[in-house]
Amino acid sequence: MRHLLNTTDLTINEIQSLMETAMDIAAHPEKYQDALKRKKLASLFFEPSTRTRLSFEAAMIELGGQVIGFASAASSSATKGETVADTTRMVNCYADIIAMRHPAEGAPRVAAEYAKIPVINAGDGSHCHPTQTLADLLTIYKHKGKLEGLTIGVCGDLKYGRTVHSLLSAMARYPGNQYIFISPEELTLPQYLKDELSLKHVPWAEFTDLAGALYELDVLYMTRVQRERFTDEATFTRLEDDFVLNRAKLNGAKGDLCVMHPLPRVNEIAADVDDDPRACYFEQALNGKHMRMALMLKMMDSIGEAWPLPEGEPIENTRCINPKCISSQERDVKPLFTRREGKVRCLYCEGDAKSIH
Ligand code: NCD
Repeated sequence: MRHLLNTTDLTINEIQSLMETAMDIAAHPEKYQDALKRKKLASLFFEPSTRTRLSFEAAMIELGGQVIGFASAASSSATKGETVADTTRMVNCYADIIAMRHPAEGAPRVAAEYAKIPVINAGDGSHCHPTQTLADLLTIYKHKGKLEGLTIGVCGDLKYGRTVHSLLSAMARYPGNQYIFISPEELTLPQYLKDELSLKHVPWAEFTDLAGALYELDVLYMTRVQRERFTDEATFTRLEDDFVLNRAKLNGAKGDLCVMHPLPRVNEIAADVDDDPRACYFEQALNGKHMRMALMLKMMDSIGEAWPLPEGEPIENTRCINPKCISSQERDVKPLFTRREGKVRCLYCEGDAKSIH
């Protein structure tokens, strides 16, 4: 069977067909109401979530299936020190498909190694969040009628925001898109993603001011400054209020701008934007449910097919330098690496690896 660890696990054609299925589900929900009858989703959320967890669970129920799981690490055996590998071995016995959210980057990849059922990454640390990206792509597609030739502004916490990381990789696969990054200097995009965009010749520019960048955008993707990923509370407090979108700033934007946000918002979109026809963020959450339904149907269909996981190689005296990576956190995870763009990267979190001679 196959897993969804990153959006790039899907081809462009597969994404297109998922969007078509999602739109058909929205139009004719009754056609799908028994599609996954008697199937169980294990909803393994080691980190808080509202939309992602509830939309996965609603998606399975609307497909006729059922849900088991937990909503926080505190209510799982992780508090007793159980590894991701062991949790997965257990869940193999109880469920038909897994949606996993985990604070450690690469944790769903470890789960996929031990799973006998499909694993869907529901967000791993600051790494990626492919199903949010599927929701985002459908939202853009419905509003713009295309996923190419767009100027996309991404504003806020580009360093820690996993939704941004997945969206940028996904949109870079469509021709003619360009990016405008709007963030404080402390929260700019990780280098591995900048390298990826340069390699693909995707034009991008960095701004430190939202109002100055707004007028040329087709899509504006707002994000929250992620308190839980900061080690330093003072830096968080200083950055929290920067880059707020309000109705007055929106006056300078295109009439058909699509304003998106993965939610939850804190204060980065003022409530006076909510009634503007350009505000797409609540619809985006609904699109997320339909895309997750389409995705689970596809993953369940792949059971019995051979889909080898992308492989890494061990490299002697080398380790991942990211303390948030699952390979730094769980002793039993074997450090594995890939070589990309002339650099050695961790297989799990895609971060830089370091030689420890
Ligand atoms: C995001 C997440 O958890 O990564 N929310 C979501 O899944 N819709 C964004 C966030 O927490 O800021």
